[in-house]
Amino acid sequence: MSENLSTGRPAGAGRPVGAGRPAGAGRGESYGYLKGKKITEGYKPGDPILRGINLSKKFLVGEGVVAVREVSLEVKPGEFILVVGPSGCGKSTLLSLLGGLDRPSAGEVLLEGRKYSRLDENGLARLRRSSIGFVFQFFNLLGDLTSAENVSLPMRLIGLKEDEIHRRTEDLLAAVGMLERANHSPYELSGGEQQRVAVARALANQPKVVLADEPTGNLDRKNGLEVIKLFKRFNKERGQTFIVVTHDQSFAEFADRVVHMEDGRILKVEGGVVG
Ligand SMILES: Nc1ncnc2c1ncn2[C@@H]1O[C@H](COP(=O)(O)OP(=O)(O)OP(=O)(O)O)[C@@H](O)[C@H]1O
Ligand SMILES: [Mg+2]
Repeated sequence: MSENLSTGRPAGAGRPVGAGRPAGAGRGESYGYLKGKKITEGYKPGDPILRGINLSKKFLVGEGVVAVREVSLEVKPGEFILVVGPSGCGKSTLLSLLGGLDRPSAGEVLLEGRKYSRLDENGLARLRRSSIGFVFQFFNLLGDLTSAENVSLPMRLIGLKEDEIHRRTEDLLAAVGMLERANHSPYELSGGEQQRVAVARALANQPKVVLADEPTGNLDRKNGLEVIKLFKRFNKERGQTFIVVTHDQSFAEFADRVVHMEDGRILKVEGGVVG
């Protein structure tokens, strides 16, 4: 259960973590060489914070579904990236690979120069908990906890002290305009309000990278825009890096780059002038 809490992923939702993982893949040096190029670890100022290199994901059902095909994406610290494309083109799968929720069939992901393939499941869970924030379409708050308890949970999981948890929870709930609803259960909140609490929860451990999969997909236009603006504010004020999957291309105005996917591949990338 803690696994689900740490990622904000609901029990049983989406694909199982590690599904489709090929035998032997995922650890060790087998990913060290890709198309003859060695991927070296290490991180220095100016390097991409997140790198997906030649990522492929094949699901072993039926004749096999290749959801992501040799996708490479380098994300600079503080970038705000949108991922768009038709249903089924691999957006969620790519996000799961970049967030370490699932393992690639081939390719490598590095966060701050550290290869995911070197980490076992516990190491990957720790990395997700401390360095990556997840926001999902259906908010995924825990119904028997209040807003404040939902936001506090990721901090409890990494063992922060109570007074620090209290301080950060208040700060985050205030930042998303939900302090007055701190003691409400999710059932007493509107969809927009629930998503704002979910955003606060995703940011609780001050992740360097926030991954959001259609965070506005279940919201009306006004509330959707509010969530994107909230992301943008954190992006600007706290320098956090955002990768947001969306069907709403009007959000492009908030993005440094827009990645267009089709049939498991990156078709084109727009933008790229990052200040
Ligand atoms: N666990 C799975 N097992 C088998 N096939 C899967 C699995 N997850 C995704 N797929 C397939 O991989 C492809 C990409 O799926 P993905 O969920 O990444 O698409 P998407 O771009 O996020 O679509 P949407 O916009 O509808 O959310 C689809 O053809 C899908 O059916
Ligand atoms: Mg999806």
